[in-house]
Amino acid sequence: MDDIISLAKRRGFVYPGSEIYGGQAGMYDYGPYGVELLNNLKAAWWKTHVYDRDDFYGLDSAIFKDPRVWDASGHTSGFSDPLAECKKCNMRIRVDKELEKIGVTADEKMSEADLQRLFDENKDKLQCPKCGEKDFGPVRMFNLLVKTNMGDFTGEMAEPVYLPGEACQGIYLNFKNVVDTTPAKIPFGIAQIGKAFRNEISPRNFLFRTRELEQADTQYFIRPNENKDEYERIKQRRMDWYVAMGIRPENLRLKQHENLVFYAADAWDIEYNFPSYGFDELEGIHDRTDYDLTQHTKFSGTDLSYFDPQTNEKYIPWILETSVGMGRMFLAFLSDAYTEDEVNGEKRVYLRLPMELAPVKVAVSPLLKNKPELVAKAREVYTMLKKEFGAVAWDDNGNIGKRYRRQDEIGTPYCVVIDFDTLEGDTKDTVTVRNRDTTEQTRVRIEELPGVLAR
Ligand code: GAP
Repeated sequence: MDDIISLAKRRGFVYPGSEIYGGQAGMYDYGPYGVELLNNLKAAWWKTHVYDRDDFYGLDSAIFKDPRVWDASGHTSGFSDPLAECKKCNMRIRVDKELEKIGVTADEKMSEADLQRLFDENKDKLQCPKCGEKDFGPVRMFNLLVKTNMGDFTGEMAEPVYLPGEACQGIYLNFKNVVDTTPAKIPFGIAQIGKAFRNEISPRNFLFRTRELEQADTQYFIRPNENKDEYERIKQRRMDWYVAMGIRPENLRLKQHENLVFYAADAWDIEYNFPSYGFDELEGIHDRTDYDLTQHTKFSGTDLSYFDPQTNEKYIPWILETSVGMGRMFLAFLSDAYTEDEVNGEKRVYLRLPMELAPVKVAVSPLLKNKPELVAKAREVYTMLKKEFGAVAWDDNGNIGKRYRRQDEIGTPYCVVIDFDTLEGDTKDTVTVRNRDTTEQTRVRIEELPGVLAR
């Protein structure tokens, strides 16, 4: 993971947030290549969940919502993690995660007192991850919602407006709107990629646990009790998607939750085998029953039941959810693509990203940057390919070997080089195309380049 983090920084994928001020825990910025990979992942996800489906609708809901939304959802009361503070170095630990490390499971629904008891029983085995001390203050439940003073002019945050603890609430608020304004008939789904914020006690493991995140969610609205088969289909589809997008199947597994969060009747995680940390949650797939629409009906006073024209029944729809953090997805794809091999006796690092996800599709280089005739021809090829593929890079920095290494580390599938053979003789108007994964080089006619590269 250290190698991946270092590549992400070195090659402009991910920078530590507010770095010039020393960096901020759990905050990251995506650099020029990172934002391309992130956008490509979002586009691929959106294509599968919106464009390729007849029964899905897209949404982009506002970040700020009526604060009562978070009472209805259960977040103001139930969205908490247990925290304890090391008495020596003041490091704050997440009690359930530290207990998990020594093989003790803390139930999501445990009260503060129960957690304190469990913590005390295992005190001898628990130590501060920072200073090693075994002396902690009391366990207290810490609410993860981030408060803001948006529209609160009391000056004391007496009427806070929350940032979303989970992006999906915007979908529930708009369920009725989507039914009223589109042909949607149950069963149907709403897809959204939206921001969420969590006051995580210990943001950790690079992009894995951050305080600001983006969730790609699908909420599938179904008839009551028709959850079982559809739930299985959804789980399988999501597993298949990762494999189709290039993730190695052996790095994925499904795991059922032993402890259910407050809104779920059943919950499974798609876990990814993250380098250094091992298998951990990548995506959550939740059977939320009628919890959400019932709660919002109760708290808003707006009836969110649905009249089903097929069964002539009125009911509160049940919901099957998939939710994945884009940062975690980014990390999984970056990790899976990270490859080391040897070329001509030298270690090489490259990102084995499919063309669809690669931040740069093709890099174009004149063999020598001080030969105007090579540069002019290379510019022509560059302009032509840019029109075709958009994300095409001009690279004339350093010798050709260095350019290949740089493009390999960015994950550029093809490098096109314009050399003296491009200008004259039998090979006139042909270029060298170098394949990232095999490092093989072939000569291709310029006019055939777009077709060859697209294939
Ligand atoms: N709406 C359901 C929901 O929010 P969740 O299991 O809390 O469920 C869903 O979150 C997904 O969001 C997780 O599987 C993970 O990919 C991502 N996620 C959650 N908390 C995160 C955090 N602090 N940092 C990065 N990603 C996070």
